[in-house]
Amino acid sequence: MKVLSQHSESKKDTSTILTLSAQAKVAKKKDPTISDGTIGMLYDETGQLMTFRSVNQALFELNNEEKYAYSTTKGNPDFQEAVLRWVFRDAYEEFTSEYGCRVIATPGGSGAISNTFSDYLNPNDVVLLPNYMWSNYIQFAYENFASYETYDLFDGTQFNLKSVRNQMLRCKKRQGRVVFVLNDPCHNPTGYCMTDAEWESLIAIIAEVADEQTPFVFLYDLAYIDYDDRGFEDTRKHLRLLKKLPPYVLSILAFSGSKTLGLYGLRVGAQIAVCPDQEILDDFERAAEFSARAKWSMATNLGMNVVSKVFLNAERRQSFEEELERARNLLKLRSRTFLEEAEKAGLKTLPFTCGFFITIPAPDPQKTYENLVRRKVYIVPMDSCLRVSISSLSVEECRKLPKIIKECL
Ligand SMILES: Cc1ncc(COP(=O)(O)O)c(C=O)c1O
Repeated sequence: MKVLSQHSESKKDTSTILTLSAQAKVAKKKDPTISDGTIGMLYDETGQLMTFRSVNQALFELNNEEKYAYSTTKGNPDFQEAVLRWVFRDAYEEFTSEYGCRVIATPGGSGAISNTFSDYLNPNDVVLLPNYMWSNYIQFAYENFASYETYDLFDGTQFNLKSVRNQMLRCKKRQGRVVFVLNDPCHNPTGYCMTDAEWESLIAIIAEVADEQTPFVFLYDLAYIDYDDRGFEDTRKHLRLLKKLPPYVLSILAFSGSKTLGLYGLRVGAQIAVCPDQEILDDFERAAEFSARAKWSMATNLGMNVVSKVFLNAERRQSFEEELERARNLLKLRSRTFLEEAEKAGLKTLPFTCGFFITIPAPDPQKTYENLVRRKVYIVPMDSCLRVSISSLSVEECRKLPKIIKECL
């Protein structure tokens, strides 16, 4: 007997990543010589989940109230300030006092993305996603009764501004509004980081498409912003460009405590709305708070308080930044090793700059995945490509894998 609602009838978790990761984990437990490159979490060179000492210290200092009491749906004021200070850095005053922004605490960046889809897409509206993407976006869209179209991420080795513009215009014509998702820097799954010039052009395109008061939501998924090896300051330069957009364009930043602080399972993140129009911001806050309350009620108080205690304490923040920088350097070493070996083996990759993942185009990803499992290598087959999580592989594994992958393709 079928009891599910019509909308839920076709629901099936299509994001194979967590399932494959679980399988790889079980296999590795039995045979530690297996290489597990499926996980979007940072592991150290000994195969242990990487944790930050400063984050752990903050966690241990929390009192019972800070750990276990209810917070509020929006998130407590310290958390809001902490997240804004971290994300905007030098531009904090500019954005909070002169411009305008609001924060809603969410369970990870996932909550921020899903909540944005809930409040800015009408039923059957299309959201614009990149053609290479973190596939959860599709589920967030379906869950919120919307569908999606994709823009081509690359034009050769560069960001495809032309495709973005065409798809935005198509979307505007179709539904009179645009919800556009960008994942940058360290794009999942390719590791691409847009250049400053590409950012400038993108902002000009959004401004052009949004002319004549077209409702436009720019959902900026910056989950990996702190792993861009251009450093903390340079990545924040792009945020300042948001101020060049027409005043009615709403930018929503999806912040992930999972990636920045390694708090993956604690489920903490934020939806940060940026816009100089007070009415648009008030509407955002009203609807986002309602949707959050209706879906998860509130983010974990424990998670929020860890974030505040790391970001608002100058000394701890300083040590945390140093730890993050070391993590970034380790990722850099892994990617450099992988790419050097890929070149030697004649293994092609999609344009990569830095971050957790490297992607390899593949004619038959599933078949290659199966071949690789036989060679004790687990990576993620996706549409027309394979994703390698260098975040969960050691430098030595990064040295060995390209040749094996090439042989299995
Ligand atoms: C591109 C991207 N955005 C957002 C997220 C959200 O992660 P979380 O919900 O754990 O913050 C992820 C997680 O893998 C991701 O890869």
